[in-house]
Amino acid sequence: MGTVASTKPYIMPALSEYAAVESRLKVEGVSLRYQSPSGETFTALDNVSFEVPDQQFAVIVGPSGCGKSSLLYLTAGLSEPSDGAIYVGGKKVDGPGADRGMVFQSYTLFPWLTVRQNIEFGLKRRGLPGDEINTIVEFYLNEVGLAKFAQHYPKQLSGGMMQRVAIARALANDPQILLMDEPFGALDSQTRLQMQQLLLQVWGNAKKTVVFVTHDIDEAILLADRIYVMGARPGRIKEVLDVPIDRPRSMDVVMEPEFIRMKRRILELLHDDLAEVH
Ligand SMILES: Nc1ncnc2c1ncn2[C@@H]1O[C@H](COP(=O)(O)OP(=O)(O)OP(=O)(O)O)[C@@H](O)[C@H]1O
Ligand SMILES: [Mg+2]
Repeated sequence: MGTVASTKPYIMPALSEYAAVESRLKVEGVSLRYQSPSGETFTALDNVSFEVPDQQFAVIVGPSGCGKSSLLYLTAGLSEPSDGAIYVGGKKVDGPGADRGMVFQSYTLFPWLTVRQNIEFGLKRRGLPGDEINTIVEFYLNEVGLAKFAQHYPKQLSGGMMQRVAIARALANDPQILLMDEPFGALDSQTRLQMQQLLLQVWGNAKKTVVFVTHDIDEAILLADRIYVMGARPGRIKEVLDVPIDRPRSMDVVMEPEFIRMKRRILELLHDDLAEVH
């Protein structure tokens, strides 16, 4: 066991690996086309361009099928764009890499490993010294409030706890950017609210760039610095909205006039999109 038991922000030495860049993420003219078995071309993403500044919390909302997950997979390097390119920290994405951490909606922990072993998995693979691994694991166990559950296996945890481990595991690798695809979508509303607050706290401490996909407009406004509203058929960015609400934000933020104004605007954009489809 390591010796660090404080929840004070701890900036890992590895952070210095990443030089300051203006845009942590740059998506440049990205299109994604699929070929159907009958030979027809389906455009999932059409000429999508946007940039996410370093340490920003970016949220993507949009109707089902507009290409939100596709955009994250492309950024993760799990698939390749048909046109355009994606840059993370100024480097063109050409495959998966430890500089991008992923948290998905479905639980993706290794069931045969304990909470501790799940979090240290990537660090061991990278060959970090044991005491450094322990320090990092202890830190993130505390950050997500699971220090007492280090020896538990995933099946012994609730859904919210599993997602907390997934967040800790992603951050422990000190990625340049955290990609989150509806990570709280399977949780009950109470747990979801707790997880949103926890994520904001962890993000504030870790100073990471986050790209977070959600269907939930309240969640988007609560979390985001900037919201990218996508449209479908073809998938594209329809509007980019800055969220002018001070942090820290509590759940009460939903009653603020600015929150309601933004929610109305996003709903309008999404409704327009549905009207276009039908
Ligand atoms: N391997 C594939 N082959 C063909 N079409 C695909 C493939 N993967 C995704 N698509 C299509 O691309 C579009 C975008 O899918 P994607 O999963 O990115 O949407 P999404 O915005 O994440 O939707 P949801 O909100 O339902 O998760 C969809 O119309 C989907 O059917
Ligand atoms: Mg999706």
